[in-house]
Amino acid sequence: QDAPVIAVDGPSGAGKGTISHLLADRLGWHFLDSGALYRVTGQACLIEGVSWDDHPAVTEVARHLDVSFTYAESGEVLVAYKGADVSAVIRTEEGGRGASTVAAIPAVRDALLARQREFCRPPGLVADGRDMGTVVFPAADLKFFLTASAEERAERRFKQLISKGESVSLPRLLEDIQERDARDSTRSVSPLVPAEDAIVIDSTTTTIEQVFDQVMLEVARKG
Ligand code: C5P
Repeated sequence: QDAPVIAVDGPSGAGKGTISHLLADRLGWHFLDSGALYRVTGQACLIEGVSWDDHPAVTEVARHLDVSFTYAESGEVLVAYKGADVSAVIRTEEGGRGASTVAAIPAVRDALLARQREFCRPPGLVADGRDMGTVVFPAADLKFFLTASAEERAERRFKQLISKGESVSLPRLLEDIQERDARDSTRSVSPLVPAEDAIVIDSTTTTIEQVFDQVMLEVARKG
């Protein structure tokens, strides 16, 4: 590890993305959205005509993944595959399913390991994912595990998708979240579990601002 790392792990919809972006901004550190790498891998398979079930072919796609992240002044992150913008399509429910399907393949996780570690550069890195504190950056200086009830996370996701103009059903979203949670936490490699030394924050009944305050308090305490 060449620079300090703060790992932010947890299930989808627990506020990880928002919290880690705010944190990276506040500290002036680099930011790794590891979920985006899995999402792009799933999308790249669709583009290349590779089935998500064809593990050796998916692994090849992950190994040679031509992905780039561009940070727009608006704070928006543009994700491109082979130079073409895939930012919107990878954020759909289908994109999430693809990501979690390819993420369950051990060789794919291996292929993306070195690439994730390359993000660790001075002055520091905020890494957002599922296994940042357990596998990718086990020596992270500070580890957070953000969580919230599945119902609350489905509700948040519902509002987010509606505001983007996607038509979705809340019960279907809840089902998707529960399915994805089950798949992510029972897979044999890098299951979604808090690191032993992680600070667990449950945001079911708190606002994002309250969670961020709590996170900043821990960062200050760490010095
Ligand atoms: O964080 P995000 O929702 O974008 O992640 C999409 C999917 O990618 C997750 O449901 C999970 O299956 C997978 N993922 C992972 N390990 C990570 C980040 C994401 O397995 N570090």
